[in-house]
Amino acid sequence: MTVYIASDHAGFTLKKLIINDLNEKGYPVIDMGTSSATESVDYPDFAHAVVDALEMEPSAQGILICGTGIGMSIAANRFSHIRAALCHSDHDARAARQHNNANILCLGERTTDKDRALDFVHTFLTTPFDKGRHQQRLEKIKC
Ligand code: RB5
Repeated sequence: MTVYIASDHAGFTLKKLIINDLNEKGYPVIDMGTSSATESVDYPDFAHAVVDALEMEPSAQGILICGTGIGMSIAANRFSHIRAALCHSDHDARAARQHNNANILCLGERTTDKDRALDFVHTFLTTPFDKGRHQQRLEKIKC
């Protein structure tokens, strides 16, 4: 399963840590930018890169990181094929997959401990969707 990942400048350092960790674990990871922690950029441009990649490859997963994760989640969730979940705990990351079939994990570099963030990523990428009553609920938010 391909993992498309992107950040703005405020999420760049955490993004690099996550990419290194995923490379060590053998995931195919595609970095969609940005490429610097010091050059200020606009988070929607990078959210859209991952949104577009998931439209082309629906079985892939995405990770978006900004300062808080909030802007990335707002930008990504405007698209009907996206279920982006801003997660602050391992429980959030597990539930986002089991209950919401989330296809993008959003993280805030300024709000999340870096080691814990790696755990959230692992949980998100390895937890399956529970389907059943949760599928029925997702049908109700389709647009
Ligand atoms: C950048 O300063 C910051 O606004 C951005 O990374 C993000 O937190 C927006 O939601």
